[in-house]
Amino acid sequence: MASLAPTLSSTISRLTHLHKPSLQSAITTLKNFQFKYKLSKPTRPFLNSSPSPLSAHFSSAQMKSTIGSDDDLVVLGIETSCDDTAAAVVRSNGEILSQVVSSQADLLVQYGGVAPKMAEEAHSKVIDQVVQEALDKANLSESDLSAVAVTIGPGLSLCLRVGVKKARKLAGTYALPIVGVHHMEAHALVARLVQRELQFPFLVLLISGGHNLLILARDLGNYVQLGTTIDDAIGEAYDKTAKWLGLDLRKSGGPAVEELAREGDADSIKFKVPMKQHKDCNFSYAGLKTQVRLAVESGSINPGIPVSSATSEDRKARANIAASFQRVAVLHLEEKCERAIEWASKIEPSIKHLVVSGGVASNQFVRARLNQIVEKNCLQLVCPPPKLCTDNGVMVAWTGIEHFRMGRFDPPPPSDEPEDAVLDLRPRWPLGEEYAEGRSDARSIRRARIHPSLTSLIQASMLQQS
Ligand code: KG4
Ligand code: ZN
Repeated sequence: MASLAPTLSSTISRLTHLHKPSLQSAITTLKNFQFKYKLSKPTRPFLNSSPSPLSAHFSSAQMKSTIGSDDDLVVLGIETSCDDTAAAVVRSNGEILSQVVSSQADLLVQYGGVAPKMAEEAHSKVIDQVVQEALDKANLSESDLSAVAVTIGPGLSLCLRVGVKKARKLAGTYALPIVGVHHMEAHALVARLVQRELQFPFLVLLISGGHNLLILARDLGNYVQLGTTIDDAIGEAYDKTAKWLGLDLRKSGGPAVEELAREGDADSIKFKVPMKQHKDCNFSYAGLKTQVRLAVESGSINPGIPVSSATSEDRKARANIAASFQRVAVLHLEEKCERAIEWASKIEPSIKHLVVSGGVASNQFVRARLNQIVEKNCLQLVCPPPKLCTDNGVMVAWTGIEHFRMGRFDPPPPSDEPEDAVLDLRPRWPLGEEYAEGRSDARSIRRARIHPSLTSLIQASMLQQS
């Protein structure tokens, strides 16, 4: 952590505003904010080492006495880190007041994946409408909100920018505090909304298009990374398999492969299980992808012909590949989860749950197989419903609520923030520090980081506060 110290002052904020506002506008904003929350004076600064009128950190005790009971909070969550534009309004008692997702299915089909510039344009087109719809469905207006939460990373910076700009505009106009959210933490914490009695510590498997993480969640904002992928994530492997098999990509590749796999023989093709020789909790899906591509090429399948128009023989060949791929892709998850349970139980013997979340966690085969592993180890599986596994605004709002309750948020931005303000976006942002025993040599070449982990930032801020 020591090596992070020089960068802390600028990165400690959950959502730093790097463009310096005029002093007058900053003071006005803070006054409005204090008025709204009946705060007598700003407390110790949270963002910077030097006190600034825009930097305030409020302890949870102060929060409770000023904002009222937890159940009074209503938070808007905004998510634009990849290809879904999502917003939701959630109450701190766990009630989901609204949930809106606009997906870029047509673009996915057109470009065979997420094209950042196109995705940014698509987000910009719908963001106002999505947020408005979330408010309307909740039957609320902006001034009824307690705070705005928004994903600031990891993700595509062009896309993150759209959500963060919208959140800051809204928070500035209505003098609302703002919480910058870690996308992967949000995938994990939404399990605590679904299962309210889920207490820390617990183990988490996060499986999505860009991430494959095994995390020990010790406390809110305190995560240990037991394993990650050394190349691709499982969702990427599902998406490419779907593309090569000529499947309908409109609902994204994963669900299409899952559906076709039901018709296939999972033992028909002997794909090799990745990383058998690595006795750690890391993943690799690039090799399995290549095996699938080779199987498609040698199987006289023409992905140009959609599966819906394929002969029954051709369809069967595709289904066999889908099923065989899925069996091995998930076997890889099972093996690494078993080891992670072993490791996590040594670090935190009281763990009782494995949370599985992220888009791929909506897959029924994945759930069933992981449930067996979990039961064998006398743990309980917690899987959010599919709508809360794939990217959504609820998880962002909920994570905002969790941190807001702890006083981890930034005061409202100035209402006249310039269009070209430099924003704090964190496209590459680890959730926790790596577990030393879990380091993979294979991964060391790909460790370039931009931001210190969320956990190290929170721990450093807590040290500063004490
Ligand atoms: O979490 P998510 O919505 O977005 C990212 O943060 O990446 O995950 C999207 C990924 C995609 O790769 C998609 O194909 C995959 O989750 N996915 C699935 C299923 N539903 C979504 N993969 C397998 N089976 C599914 N049913
Ligand atoms: Zn995601």
